[in-house]
Amino acid sequence: MDKPMETPMDKRIAVLASGTGTLLQALIDDGLPIAKVYTDRLCPAYTDVAKDLPRSLVQRTFGKDFDRELYTGQLVEALRENRIDLVVMAGFMTVLSPAMFHAFGGRITNIHPSLLPAFKGAHAVRDALAAGVAVTGTTVHIATELLDDGRILAQMPVPVLPSDTEETLHERIKQAERVLYPKAIRTLLKTL
Ligand code: GRF
Repeated sequence: MDKPMETPMDKRIAVLASGTGTLLQALIDDGLPIAKVYTDRLCPAYTDVAKDLPRSLVQRTFGKDFDRELYTGQLVEALRENRIDLVVMAGFMTVLSPAMFHAFGGRITNIHPSLLPAFKGAHAVRDALAAGVAVTGTTVHIATELLDDGRILAQMPVPVLPSDTEETLHERIKQAERVLYPKAIRTLLKTL
């Protein structure tokens, strides 16, 4: 019988994060080869979770002066300098301009807290609750310049409980994400 193909560990992964970094922690715990962590703001993902990894704060501004093209260009340059093979977005909250997807097309993943194509956007968990669905979940997909779009790599359903608030439901979805995301990335790595 053929041996199952092992995950290629020579690929250089960059993780992009903006928040608490619990997903980043799951990727680290899984043993994936993370070459660098980038965050767009000072956040626990940068200060705590990535503290023992190569990390870089590519800080953005939040006012009207935010130049998305310029910011995306800075990030693309940093990723290229680091010879990154795969860009893994793990709670990265800045929408990047098309230049990013031209530079790394098909090599950027995202995870979104709904069963896409349902509930795209920044309030997926709140919107699922408001719609009264019995089941929501999480989706790993290839990121494209269209928000929460692109080829679906993996999905996991999560039941909505009558007692759920946005916080309790999102926390259960995140528990599913911590299992699903590392697995989906390992599968994708075998195809790169
Ligand atoms: C996750 O729910 C993910 O689906 C979304 O951002 C959240 C990241 O959580 N894109 P954390 O900051 O890693 O805890």
